[in-house]
Amino acid sequence: MRVAVVGATGAVGSTMLGVMRERGFPADEVVPFASERSAGRTIDWGDAELTVAPLRDDTIQGFDLALFSAGSSVSADWAPRFRDAGAVVVDNSSQWRMHEEVPLVVAEVNPDALTGHRGIVANPNCTTMQTVMVLGPILKAAGIDRVVMSTYQAVSGTGQKAVDELHGQTEAILEAKELAQPSVYPHQIAFNVIPQVETFKDGDDYTTEERKCMRETQKILGRDDVAVSATCARVPVYTGHSVSANVQTRDPLSPEDAREVLAGAPGLVVVDDPADGIYPLAIEAAGRDDVLVGRIRRDPSHDRCLNMWIVGDNLRKGAATNAVQLAELLSARGLLRSAHAA
Ligand SMILES: NC(=O)c1ccc[n+]([C@@H]2O[C@H](COP(=O)([O-])OP(=O)(O)OC[C@H]3O[C@@H](n4cnc5c(N)ncnc54)[C@H](OP(=O)(O)O)[C@@H]3O)[C@@H](O)[C@H]2O)c1
Repeated sequence: MRVAVVGATGAVGSTMLGVMRERGFPADEVVPFASERSAGRTIDWGDAELTVAPLRDDTIQGFDLALFSAGSSVSADWAPRFRDAGAVVVDNSSQWRMHEEVPLVVAEVNPDALTGHRGIVANPNCTTMQTVMVLGPILKAAGIDRVVMSTYQAVSGTGQKAVDELHGQTEAILEAKELAQPSVYPHQIAFNVIPQVETFKDGDDYTTEERKCMRETQKILGRDDVAVSATCARVPVYTGHSVSANVQTRDPLSPEDAREVLAGAPGLVVVDDPADGIYPLAIEAAGRDDVLVGRIRRDPSHDRCLNMWIVGDNLRKGAATNAVQLAELLSARGLLRSAHAA
């Protein structure tokens, strides 16, 4: 199998390369792609040294699979070209997620949505990903009427430049130096919380990230009648998004039963002994593929509502790991190449 990794020098792309190696992904050849700036650069990949290729019509031929994480405009332009050249594309950007013909898939929650894909498959937004890992099993067990989610999102979710900005500001503040103007975020992120993730578009008073969380959750669950409300904030954490979720079930579900349901769900770990200071932490989720859930408790204001705290590594399960899992499923289910050739 020939695999293209587009955006291979970025935060998600380099994690995808690492995850492929860790999981022994059955690729015969892997070709990293990035911008013209990086073309010719080499990347160590296990025993192999991979050379970054530029995106051109002649360089994108002959791939079975293309894993994209180079932003929406690159995906808009190049995902259809890879598809037309015979590859199945798994895309991490938001470009194709809500497209009617494109399945939006979390490996543990709705893997069957891959069947019948038309050459492009989308990986959800990182915050949505970790939240639906928890909502999926609860929906099956007790139904869901409504979810209110508040997020505390790490800077690596914005990419490498944001990690550098947090680092630079923190260092400058601790050394009492003058701060440069923020260039990635609208405000200083070091020692701050910014209640804006992405942008406000066309007079909307929800950000594009909040809209993604609301719409993508419904699409993955396959339930437009699950009401979702989201508030997304950026926090000065390098890696690991945290989500406070208030979940109103259709049928009664006790915290004890919820813990049991979630403990049996693949890819989830219940970390929930608050009296001993045991609950999910971003620093413990970072570097892991499991999504952690804890602080599961009854909402005293509503007898069918539970509160919980959900933490995941935004670069791994929130992006790279799920993309590689989808690639594994496409391969194992015989859904590469031939699926969209008809
Ligand atoms: N970070 C996360 O937690 C996360 C989670 C889910 C989804 N995503 C999505 O994944 C995508 C990448 O995010 P990231 O955080 O990895 O960003 P990043 O660290 O900024 O990396 C961007 C990658 O895209 C490449 N690139 C940029 N412009 C290009 C062009 N014109 N042609 C070809 N390649 C180009 C860059 O190559 P150069 O090195 O040559 O510039 C780099 O490899 C975004 O769509 C993002 O929304 C990110």
